[in-house]
Amino acid sequence: MVEKVRMLKEEALEALHAASSLAELDDWRVKYLGRKGGAVTQLLRSIPELPAEERPALGQAANELKGFLQERYEARHEELSRPTAEMTEAIDVTLPGRPVNLGRLHLTIQTLREMYAIFGQMGFQVEEWPEVETDLLNFELLNMPPHHPARDMWDTFYVNPKVVLRTHTSPGQIRSMRKHCPDPIRIILPGKCYRYEAVTARAEFMFYQVEGLAVGRRITLADLKGTMVDFARQMFGADRQVRFRCSYFPFTEPSVEVDMDCIICGGEGCRVCKHTGWLEICGAGMVHPQVLSNGGYDPDIYSGFAFGMGPERVAMLKHDISDIRYFYSNDLRFLKQFG
Ligand code: DAH
Repeated sequence: MVEKVRMLKEEALEALHAASSLAELDDWRVKYLGRKGGAVTQLLRSIPELPAEERPALGQAANELKGFLQERYEARHEELSRPTAEMTEAIDVTLPGRPVNLGRLHLTIQTLREMYAIFGQMGFQVEEWPEVETDLLNFELLNMPPHHPARDMWDTFYVNPKVVLRTHTSPGQIRSMRKHCPDPIRIILPGKCYRYEAVTARAEFMFYQVEGLAVGRRITLADLKGTMVDFARQMFGADRQVRFRCSYFPFTEPSVEVDMDCIICGGEGCRVCKHTGWLEICGAGMVHPQVLSNGGYDPDIYSGFAFGMGPERVAMLKHDISDIRYFYSNDLRFLKQFG
């Protein structure tokens, strides 16, 4: 009989180790220690039926076994109740949440949107035209026939002899005029431009421009100046000063370059304004009569102004960025700083 107790002990221990969950452990408890049909309970109950001389030894062995298994059961219960590493990970509500990486708008797009808002308030609508443009619109209808020396101002990517990647957004002037003629126009034309030139801190082969165009009756250079002053003050600060400098573009007459007083030094002269006190913000002018008529407007009745500015340059001035190459080299350390 004592041998039987030993075997039961062995069997129960083996089963205990095999129980790998609290549910299995409970089954084990019922099977071996259960009050009704448990194996140990049954063993104890069978004692009175034994011959009297066998009873004490077996009684003692069975009671020891019961205590021993009870202890082992409790230890295993504790073991299985302890959270495993896996469970901890699943349920630890005190851990900080995993950050969700939100995308953000590119600095150029942010700047463009600021520009839309400012010009939008002044009544300018946004229109977009293709980046692949005919030589005719990119050059000829803007007063630059083939071999015109002014073409040298724009180093050009040719798709074929008659088609180019637009070197500026100015061809959109012709497209918009032809679309809206004879209605008055107040639009800005944003978009990518391409130039076949060496990439430097100041020049990229791909960049954005925002073209502005207003056409109507009695539009004057004063309207252009007012628009530029208003833009400079809204974009760069309420006390900006703006000046016009004579310049030349084939599609405007007269042509100007628009400067504002340096936002860093306020006109004293510093590194950013190259000690001139002024920062150039765009090229502009009164739409050339020939360009007006290429767009369908009679230059004896209508006049207009146009300007072209670079949003990257606007952003560089605003955020003191020293190199345009940061914009499109996809360096997150740069991009993350904005937005
Ligand atoms: N298209 C010129 C450029 O890329 C910029 C420009 C100058 C646009 C004068 C204009 C303008 O509309 O009137 O350099």
